[in-house]
Amino acid sequence: MAKASEMNNGGQSGNGEPYFCKECKRNHTKGKIYKEHLKFARFETDKKEIEEESESSEKGLESEVEEIFEGLDEEEKEDEDDIIELNEMEEEELDSDPDSSKVIINDANMCVEAVKRLPGVGEATLKKLIKAGFSSLESIAYTPPKIIQNESGLGDKTIAKLIKASMSQLKIGFKSAEDVWEYRKNISRITTGSQELDDLFGGGIETGCVVEFFGEFRTGKTQIAHQLCVNVQLPMEDGGLDGNALYIDTEGTFRPERIVQMSEGLDLDHKKILKNIIFGRAYNSDHQILLIKEAANLIKEKNIKLIIVDSLIGHFRSEYVGRGTLATRQQTINTHLHDLLRLTDIFPELCIIVTNQVQSKPDVFYGNPTVAAGGNIVAHGSTIRVYLRKGKGEQRVAKMIDAPHLPEGEAVFSITENGIGD
Ligand code: GTP
Ligand code: MG
Repeated sequence: MAKASEMNNGGQSGNGEPYFCKECKRNHTKGKIYKEHLKFARFETDKKEIEEESESSEKGLESEVEEIFEGLDEEEKEDEDDIIELNEMEEEELDSDPDSSKVIINDANMCVEAVKRLPGVGEATLKKLIKAGFSSLESIAYTPPKIIQNESGLGDKTIAKLIKASMSQLKIGFKSAEDVWEYRKNISRITTGSQELDDLFGGGIETGCVVEFFGEFRTGKTQIAHQLCVNVQLPMEDGGLDGNALYIDTEGTFRPERIVQMSEGLDLDHKKILKNIIFGRAYNSDHQILLIKEAANLIKEKNIKLIIVDSLIGHFRSEYVGRGTLATRQQTINTHLHDLLRLTDIFPELCIIVTNQVQSKPDVFYGNPTVAAGGNIVAHGSTIRVYLRKGKGEQRVAKMIDAPHLPEGEAVFSITENGIGD
């Protein structure tokens, strides 16, 4: 089994030429000479306890390295240093886990292959991109350069080149409205289980967007989320997407028992349904943000067609208290929402459902005194917004508040033991 570090400097690539060092009588590889040699030099001088000589020899080595790196601009030098660090990190990982070199090989799917073929992407850059969650052309093309830079540590010129190449391969640019119409005609939908509610959405909840359900407690937000996790697994002809679900629970209200009841209501094998729901409990807002970033790598691998975030801003509301924190809170929610929206750009066959609480509007005397929490940031971030309120008994009323292509309207549905129905 080849070590990851050997894969990087295998001797075949221009960067991996073997180099025999007369001074330390060891083989070095280009791109690693500096640190390998430096380590040796330090070891030697410790042994001989000649500090002064060591300093001068290190200086000598630094100038030697400068010669080797001559011709590379500053940024490439930085990336090169990172590569050395990455190699060392991986070597350490390999020492503790002999199977870890398999990770990249096992995860190599078609998306990764496409990234690998981008001009200038070597093994080290590829690993950095994958580690940061950028394992497809789409994820590179649609993500702002600053975010790729922060998360991958690559230089901005490298990133600009990668984005440009990804965009050109994906043919991202202007297209005719007719093309958009053709695309929208083929959009898939998930049934909610209620005909009326499906009609409110124009035939079920569509993919490629973020849908927000907001309402007071017990209005059915979590129940709808559970039901969609079951329904998304139905075949296309039965109103599903033949896919799996990823559930991010921020409130601790996910109940597998309800999934079992809902599966049985549809005569489905509940064990299989439960197996195909990937569950993540978010313990705080940072963790929630992290889970969504990690989700990006699971979507293709696990055939995820639905992501639930229940609820979107609960943690943010409890963690950011007081007027002074408002700006930071809104900015963080905005970034989080854009992470979600970007996922629907990258994976148009994906549907994202977020639930949201309401807060009271003390200045309203007539009409509805409640408003979705999170303010305009959440309102503008979601593609479709639906307000839920209680009706009689098991009945609930859903009101379409905002959708780019759907009329305002209301639908009555019910929550029964078997889940959402009419
Ligand atoms: P919060 O998370 O508190 O804001 O509320 P929510 O909107 O998420 O409420 P949720 O979806 O959890 O709805 C809870 C309601 O669903 C309960 O009050 C019940 O009315 C209904 N419900 C839950 N389980 C069952 C069940 O097994 N049978 C029936 N008939 N109704 C149920
Ligand atoms: Mg809930």
